[in-house]
Amino acid sequence: MTSHASSVIDRIRSKQARVGIIGLGYVGLPLAVEFARAGFDVTGFEIDEAKLQELRAGRSYVPDVPDSQIAEAVHAGKFHVASDMRGLTGMDVIDICVPTPLRKTRDPDLSYVVKAVEAVADALHPGQLVILESTTYPGTTEEVAQPMLEAGGLKADVDFLLAFSPERVDPGNAQFTTRTIPKVVGGIGPASTEAASLLYGAVVSRVVCVSSTRVAEMVKLLENTFRAVNIGLVNEIALMCHKMDINVWEVIDAAKTKPFGFMPFYPGPGLGGHCIPIDPYYLSWKARQTGFECRFIELAGHVNGAMPEYVVQRIADALNSVGKPINGMRIHLFGIAYKRDVNDMRESPALDILELLVRRGAIVSYTDPFVPEVRHGGHVFSSISFDQALGYPFDCAVLTTDHSVFDYARLATVPLIVDTRNALREFARPSVVRL
Ligand SMILES: NC(=O)c1ccc[n+]([C@@H]2O[C@H](COP(=O)([O-])OP(=O)(O)OC[C@H]3O[C@@H](n4cnc5c(N)ncnc54)[C@H](O)[C@@H]3O)[C@@H](O)[C@H]2O)c1
Repeated sequence: MTSHASSVIDRIRSKQARVGIIGLGYVGLPLAVEFARAGFDVTGFEIDEAKLQELRAGRSYVPDVPDSQIAEAVHAGKFHVASDMRGLTGMDVIDICVPTPLRKTRDPDLSYVVKAVEAVADALHPGQLVILESTTYPGTTEEVAQPMLEAGGLKADVDFLLAFSPERVDPGNAQFTTRTIPKVVGGIGPASTEAASLLYGAVVSRVVCVSSTRVAEMVKLLENTFRAVNIGLVNEIALMCHKMDINVWEVIDAAKTKPFGFMPFYPGPGLGGHCIPIDPYYLSWKARQTGFECRFIELAGHVNGAMPEYVVQRIADALNSVGKPINGMRIHLFGIAYKRDVNDMRESPALDILELLVRRGAIVSYTDPFVPEVRHGGHVFSSISFDQALGYPFDCAVLTTDHSVFDYARLATVPLIVDTRNALREFARPSVVRL
């Protein structure tokens, strides 16, 4: 191991290492707070001025990170925020947590990663550890980040260290948090793996080292493709069961009593969030470069992508059963966020359902305590309170997100509701239509 590598390892071991996190979103902010709580001096680099203002005022915009943790870290002098990337020069460790969306063509959009790596390259000096956390296709660290960083003459795993470590955080999951979810680490070489593993070992319960950055990148894509494909399968089974007049929820509940070889996944209105609907396409894009076609990914994407349309069909059927069309009817959505108890509406299927209903002439309103306003398709919608919504004379309600703050006993009493989440399972009656 070179002296540069051993010096950063020593600084990590003694918690003298200054940690820079690029991108303070759902992934970067919890991670920054964990490093600060573990005793590291952390600087978060963020380009969104509104987020910086919130953090400077001691407020968190990520529900999993309480304001008190931000205030504590700031008060202890362990957490600083900055927009000037030149500050990266002063960091021993740089962790990149920027978005990895898809282009309209469903090709990876690495522009955020490239911009962040450019900033790191400008600041790079011997003895720094750089880690990419953003979910991406296998090969990104080696093929994109490494050449950009080495362009100035420094060599990875020799002069500076470079690793990939996928983030597995599950927003809204109180049982598994950044600290308790094992972290996979793969370095460009042994020194990089060792340094990154030591760093995460200071903040997470378990670190799993793999042999390369490509393996670490692939691990994350296997995990998310596994979810996308299994959700696709169960969505198709749900459609099948509806045709066959079988209650799919009862089937899953009974099937999951098998103690081995089965894992329950649940049908729903479609995929949402910044991971499951996107990440598998990073993998299929990369596989295509090698002439390999990922049939499962394409099929699951097709089935899952059709779920909002299917929900609208079920709404149409429900209204039809009481002699009403969709056109001109008041339809109220409960939940806009892509999943329970989060404020994230990226790729949310509720947005697709909203748009499809508006296009068919429905008068759409919504309630989501986590999402005060929605701007979509040239329209602006504002959330109304749960109580107000129950007094609103809508023709049909739709439960799109099963937030735990909703009062399900009261929701089940509305004249007509389509439940896409099986949240009203205890309140079976003809006016409650289950997916
Ligand atoms: N959200 C999740 O549940 C989750 C879970 C696991 C992995 N991931 C992955 O982690 C990565 C980040 O996701 P996220 O949900 O935290 O995204 P996010 O949009 O919540 O946060 C990213 C942040 O990076 C900032 N940013 C973008 N470019 C920047 C730059 N050049 N310099 C500084 N800041 C910059 C953005 O302003 C934003 O605040 C993605 O690759 C995603 O796939 C997300």
